[in-house]
Amino acid sequence: MDKKLGSLVITNRIKKMGTEAIIYNQRGQLSILDQLLLPNQTVYVRIGDVEDGWKAIFQMQVRGAPAIGIVGSLSLVVDLNNQEFDTKSMLNTYLATKLTYLVSARPTAVNMKWCADVLLKLSAELKDCDEVSVAEMKEQIMSMAESFLEKDIEINKKMGMFGANHILERNDKSLRILTHCNTGSLATGGYGTALGVIRTLHNMGRLLHAYCTETRPYNQGSRLTAYELMQDDIPSTLVCDNMCAALMKNWTIDGIFLGADRVVANGDTANKIGTYQLAVLAKYHNVPFYVVAPSSSIDLNMSTGDEIVIEERPATEITHMNGIRVTPKGINCWNPAFDVTPARLITGGIVTEFGVFTPSELNTELSTHLK
Ligand code: MRU
Repeated sequence: MDKKLGSLVITNRIKKMGTEAIIYNQRGQLSILDQLLLPNQTVYVRIGDVEDGWKAIFQMQVRGAPAIGIVGSLSLVVDLNNQEFDTKSMLNTYLATKLTYLVSARPTAVNMKWCADVLLKLSAELKDCDEVSVAEMKEQIMSMAESFLEKDIEINKKMGMFGANHILERNDKSLRILTHCNTGSLATGGYGTALGVIRTLHNMGRLLHAYCTETRPYNQGSRLTAYELMQDDIPSTLVCDNMCAALMKNWTIDGIFLGADRVVANGDTANKIGTYQLAVLAKYHNVPFYVVAPSSSIDLNMSTGDEIVIEERPATEITHMNGIRVTPKGINCWNPAFDVTPARLITGGIVTEFGVFTPSELNTELSTHLK
């Protein structure tokens, strides 16, 4: 039963296949689960326009590359639902301004830019098409933006199968899998990317155990992934980030699966800070290292990872825990939210909705599939 409190909806919406982080059942009605309050409170926040969408992304009430693109796009739909435009040109200009603003909320993840490019391409085509009215143009843009949510769930399920089958073809036992950050239902339209592979292995009866890292400093692993693993009754263990070398030495880890904020043409991958060190450890311990990324997380316009802008976040995420200072005042901090893993360390493969590719195959395969 939902309890309405002003602009907040407190509810207990837990789906069998993962937590429902984005509620969009009716045009113009968007709510997101406030991930800043998890795992202790389940509070949904209404998103009424693009400004609300930008704030929710910037403040990380919603996070995870695919979820950022989906919520940003849906915030535009909610916004457009309350607007009237005299001409198609006015609508096109409005879209360009709002989408540029949404893209600016977090710079590293490419998914919001991917959604913006799709919507602006459609807008440009419709603007120049004489048979389409302003109302029809608005309708088509809103429908396209709405479609990202459902499509993302389908894509995640495909990647779950591709990733699970790929590693199972190389192993005949049940597997211990390590993951980092949160790539599940909370970070996507539903089901998840890397966590989607873990879910699929679990559903196939081939997951022996999942390990998730704490993921300092924002604790996406301990707060969010641990929460999703518990919700789905997946056998799992939480470790701190600095325990991963010992984990790989003491327990047989059969594969590491992670998500991506931006995979570039040569396969270099930006993902949550700590990904790179896990890839180095995986190489040393001979553990296959996989990146799970839908095509909306792949940016073929950049050639190498050196071009990726890495978001830097406030020092207070390091100096404080739950609002309490845990460091001496005045200490300098460096807090990059992401790092770039060189393609050569992605030894398992890059799992996409079109299949699993080596980093060197990615550019050609993606270009062919997206033609
Ligand atoms: O800062 P965040 O929480 O948005 O970072 C999230 C990650 O790095 C995820 O691994 C990535 O976005 C993929 S989510 C499917």
